[in-house]
Amino acid sequence: MAQANGESTSSALPAVGGDRRVRVHHLAAAKAAGERLTMLTAYDAPTARIFDASGIDMLLVGDSIGDNMLAHESTIPVTIDELLPAVRAVSRSTTRAMVVADLPFGSYESGPEQALASAVRMMKEGGAHAVKFEGGARVAEHVRVITGAGIPVVGHIGFTPQSEHMLGGKRVQGRGEDAAERLCEDAIALQEAGAVAVVLEMVPAPVAARASEILQIPTIGIGAGPSCDGQVLVWLDMAGMGDWSPRFAKQFAQLGAQLQQAAAEYAAEVRLGTFPAAEHSYAD
Ligand code: KIV
Repeated sequence: MAQANGESTSSALPAVGGDRRVRVHHLAAAKAAGERLTMLTAYDAPTARIFDASGIDMLLVGDSIGDNMLAHESTIPVTIDELLPAVRAVSRSTTRAMVVADLPFGSYESGPEQALASAVRMMKEGGAHAVKFEGGARVAEHVRVITGAGIPVVGHIGFTPQSEHMLGGKRVQGRGEDAAERLCEDAIALQEAGAVAVVLEMVPAPVAARASEILQIPTIGIGAGPSCDGQVLVWLDMAGMGDWSPRFAKQFAQLGAQLQQAAAEYAAEVRLGTFPAAEHSYAD
């Protein structure tokens, strides 16, 4: 597998589609074969290149750009025009991962036609390979219209951050028999409308397991336990970029601390005059 710097690693090729671009049929094949899918968010070229080289199957240019990169308090203020340059940067920087563009709040709620127009922009101007948006049965018609236009759709149910205020905050969804049943019905509605996968966010693990069992399309969990067909994390949570991350995220590195240390060492060397040294300078 090629690394971002062009060298190859010794790790095995990802099962899903090998070195080829991950496409919708690979998602279905992965589910059928019981191979777990991997997804991370990415918002810019350098991280997209690194994650693509590491074999991540799907890169989500999420509206989580709002609270993670743009210093908004939530995803709600994010606009299509803010998200599009990120989608473009990520899609230009990958050769293998499927690039999924989120539809931000306000870009699809008016109805299927608005949703289609937003999805078309993400594909045509952003170079995305699929779009994702929040909601279950209530957006099934949107999914039908967009997939009918030849654009793959990833659904998103459970805790849906764009509805945070309606849901009473960041709360686990699908607790209790009725809510679990409704969640499964939403998942089925999305599948029947043509969605190629469904993100399950902050859902009790047994409920996510049930949804994963009844669906033919893959479920991609975030805070939804180990039985989903794939997992997604916000990359800054995965890599330890901040001093806080949600309970369901594991920090696989402490990049924030390393970056702070590197910046402090750079500043110290500049102040001391030890950087730049002769080897970093042009003699003539
Ligand atoms: O925007 C995002 O990052 C997401 C994930 C949390 C699934 O929607």
